[in-house]
Amino acid sequence: MADKSQHRDLLSVTTLEFERDPAQVLAEIKGPAFREYRKKWDAANVFAYEPDFPIHLNLETYFGCILKCVMCPHSLPPQQRAAWGTSAKRLDADAVRDILDQGRGTDLAAVNFGGINEPLVDASLFDHIDYAASVGVMDIFLCSNAVLLDREAAERILHSPVTRLEISLDSLDKDTYLSIRCGSDFDKVMENIDYFLRRKKELGRRLPLVRISAVKLPGNKESMTDFAAYWQKRVDYVAIQNCMLFQQEQTFTLPDGSSLAVARPTAAPDPSFRCSQSWQLVTIRSNGDVAPCCGWEGMHLVMGNIFDNSIKDVWNGQKFATFRQNHKMEPPRLHPRCVACAQSIVDFHAP
Ligand SMILES: C[S@@+](CC[C@H](N)C(=O)[O-])C[C@H]1O[C@@H](n2cnc3c(N)ncnc32)[C@H](O)[C@@H]1O
Ligand code: SF4
Repeated sequence: MADKSQHRDLLSVTTLEFERDPAQVLAEIKGPAFREYRKKWDAANVFAYEPDFPIHLNLETYFGCILKCVMCPHSLPPQQRAAWGTSAKRLDADAVRDILDQGRGTDLAAVNFGGINEPLVDASLFDHIDYAASVGVMDIFLCSNAVLLDREAAERILHSPVTRLEISLDSLDKDTYLSIRCGSDFDKVMENIDYFLRRKKELGRRLPLVRISAVKLPGNKESMTDFAAYWQKRVDYVAIQNCMLFQQEQTFTLPDGSSLAVARPTAAPDPSFRCSQSWQLVTIRSNGDVAPCCGWEGMHLVMGNIFDNSIKDVWNGQKFATFRQNHKMEPPRLHPRCVACAQSIVDFHAP
């Protein structure tokens, strides 16, 4: 990627590196309706367009994971983890169809089949994906740890309407990787990624666009430049994410076995902090709760539940509408959870 460009999002959580903006590439492939969706997305991003329905849905069809990554609530002991979700309830095929049916003829354009979970565990995933495409969803995301991205999963994804496959890797060094992505199998994951990329080339597919990402952490921060340089030559885009601490203080284990305690800063967030997620998207949790964003704090900000009300009613309801307008204010009137969210984003620096 010779002409690398950079995009920094509103929260500075993620830095993307790419030769060509993935949204523009997709617009070329998908055509005018996709361009229109991105226009609305960008306008909502600056509070200039209030959609009639979330433009993007994150659907957490179940709560659970096969790994216990150090920066994720799944690393918590079961009792504390229970505060983050329930594995007793799930969005089954009927629920997913109902959600997607509600989005017909609205501003809904994008779905990410994920939440605090690993999407490839869901046996109905490809039925959900096909149904989303059948109701006109143009941009279908999967974000995966790639442990289950075996040959069969690769074929299914490559022959599906998925537009973006986001693979979370965090490190190219086996020991560092295993100190972050606890419970994973580095060799298998690398083999899976390699197979997927080779097969995509063999089949001559432009989609899905592939993103490889790393969360910048105390244990891998020194290697981010090399990580990005390695993957820039091989995939469509690379994402380096700042870490969001999911609680006030967290302890990270370093590759040498030592540990480091990190606390959220207590200072008020930068007054320029703006967040437009509540104008663009919602996350629907496995129990039907509707969260106004995809941040850790947002998972505790319940705007309504899809089993009690329609998504439109939740989206346009007094609670959500007020929350949304408060973000547009100058300066924004931040909910205490949003203040905590701003304080939770840590840049461990080091290139
Ligand atoms: C919660 S994961 C779920 C998807 C999948 N299991 C995975 O790991 O890719 C979604 C994304 O959030 C990232 N992530 C996890 N913990 C994070 C944290 N504390 N701060 C920022 N991003 C985080 C993951 O690396 C992944 O790219
Ligand atoms: S693989 Fe994803 S959902 Fe699972 S523990 Fe890691 S970050 Fe969390």
